[in-house]
Amino acid sequence: MCGIVGYVGSDNAKEIIIDGLKRLEYRGYDSAGVAVVQDGKILLKKHVGGIANLENLIGDDPMASGTGIGHTRWATHGAPSDVNAHPHLSADEQIAVVHNGIIENYVELRKMLTEQHGIRFRSETDSEVIAQLIGIHYEGNLEDAVYKAVAQMRGAYAISVIAADQPEKIVAVRKDAPLIAGLGKGCNFIASDIPALLKYVKEIYLIENNETVVLTPDSVKIYDDERNEVSRDVFHVTWDADAAEKEGYEHFMLKEIYEQPKGLHETISRRLNEDGTIKLDGISMTREDIEGFNKIYIVACGTAYHAGLVGKYIIEKLAKVPVEVDVASEFRYRDPYVDDKTLFIAISQSGETLDTLAALREAKRKGARVLSVVNVVGSSVARESDDVFYTWAGPEIAVASTKAYTTQLMCMYLIGLYMGYEKGTITREYYDQFIADLMDVSGKLEASLKNAGIIEGLSRMLYNKEQVFFIGRGLDSSVSYEGSLKLKEISYINSFAIAAGELKHGTIALIEPGTLVVTLATQDFLYEKMLSNIQEVKARGAHVLSIAKEGNTEIETHSNEVLYIPACRDEITPLLSVVPLQLFAYYVARERGCNIDKPKNLAKSVTVE
Ligand code: F6R
Repeated sequence: MCGIVGYVGSDNAKEIIIDGLKRLEYRGYDSAGVAVVQDGKILLKKHVGGIANLENLIGDDPMASGTGIGHTRWATHGAPSDVNAHPHLSADEQIAVVHNGIIENYVELRKMLTEQHGIRFRSETDSEVIAQLIGIHYEGNLEDAVYKAVAQMRGAYAISVIAADQPEKIVAVRKDAPLIAGLGKGCNFIASDIPALLKYVKEIYLIENNETVVLTPDSVKIYDDERNEVSRDVFHVTWDADAAEKEGYEHFMLKEIYEQPKGLHETISRRLNEDGTIKLDGISMTREDIEGFNKIYIVACGTAYHAGLVGKYIIEKLAKVPVEVDVASEFRYRDPYVDDKTLFIAISQSGETLDTLAALREAKRKGARVLSVVNVVGSSVARESDDVFYTWAGPEIAVASTKAYTTQLMCMYLIGLYMGYEKGTITREYYDQFIADLMDVSGKLEASLKNAGIIEGLSRMLYNKEQVFFIGRGLDSSVSYEGSLKLKEISYINSFAIAAGELKHGTIALIEPGTLVVTLATQDFLYEKMLSNIQEVKARGAHVLSIAKEGNTEIETHSNEVLYIPACRDEITPLLSVVPLQLFAYYVARERGCNIDKPKNLAKSVTVE
């Protein structure tokens, strides 16, 4: 989705902004632009396409200025084009604005600006309305004009604004879209995301909803919606700049797949007390609270939703409480039955997914206790939850989620075990053994990543399949959804996942000689049932690639190929079985020449409906 970077200081703002925008490229965008204040004027450059196009447009122009704002746009209102790219200017070209989000009443505002102020709009965007509104209100005090404009706007936005006659000032506002201020020495920064600033600052302010920030080279002041100055604790970013670099890997996705053993280890090892019990840092749930929940909803989107499917299985099994999993865009509009005995668990890597955020608010409004499992510290989902449980995955840059998923799974196990143990639905012995097994996973995963070469070889054979099916039972079925999503989103192969037992109720009609069927068969107690499903597709000529536990050589007689995961208890196979599927998707996409880290039409953080 859109990205914002702004700089005010004595270095070349344009260079810092472009560098920051490049670090946000992973979020997905279709045009980019930058505006700086130069000699009492706004100098604007923007171009459709990648940042390289913008750099070509700028050419040798130093755009010498210490104050500027930049943007990467992901089109919502108005097609990707030069004019629709941000920044947008006011009619008199005195104000430049970048905007993330959507202005819901832009049609009405546009009409008012056209009819009452004679403004001729240059673009089709909702965002230009903001520049024009600030323009009509501007009388030399930028903060005043921004406050007046914001009072007329409805919707979600993070905006950053500069004025031609204010060479050392940026004014920014946040409402329901992420915004941070970076604190430098003799310079300050504004951005939509931490990775944009990692190279420059480690100390930031997390800007809250309805707050306005005024940045100059020497100060960052935050004001509430009534213009009272508010104080804010400095947030120290622990991610290092390398975490957002490829470090020799061909793609971020591959790097992030390889970071999973570390992410899993971080996520569990920081949560164990000396006596081996789990401490849910960030969660203040008492035994009474846990016993009082009569229902749990897990709500999320995409890959995070798939983590929720595993979560349902685990939490129901361990804590003996009914769990329903829903995609956020459905949950929020279906008037779900939620009350004060409901625990609502939101899962989100970015913590900024609009549907998840809206579902969370709906659940809260109805009285649910809200717990979120989030990767980005300080994100909106985290801030609006009663309790937050962080997945310590580090920054995830590739659009296709990998390490966020496995760390989300780890959180599901920890929450399930914690609740089960507190409620007394599992024994101490079972609990201890389960935790020990989870502690072993990262080592097992590390070892199994050494087999990546086998998967690479396989993908060379199978990359040109036109459609692929993923089937499994129980936990394997949840993982098959994720395997299928990974493949389709980065390789553009038409892939489809279905619970293996459901195949014969319709989908089997699509199986033809040569159709690739990836079968997950890691659940010992379902193995024989799964074999029957494998036979069904084999009988119709399918090419069967199976995922099984080491030691199960028997499955080779039913499969064309088998990829093995280390032997482990059935309940934790998802942490291991998803990895060959991630690698398979990766190598197939590479073989097909796809843009792996930035697949077409997708964005890393979906902050619109
Ligand atoms: C797929 C993927 C998406 C996200 C989904 C939710 O690889 O990354 O399906 O999982 O958009 O995003 P978050 O977790 O940021 O809420």
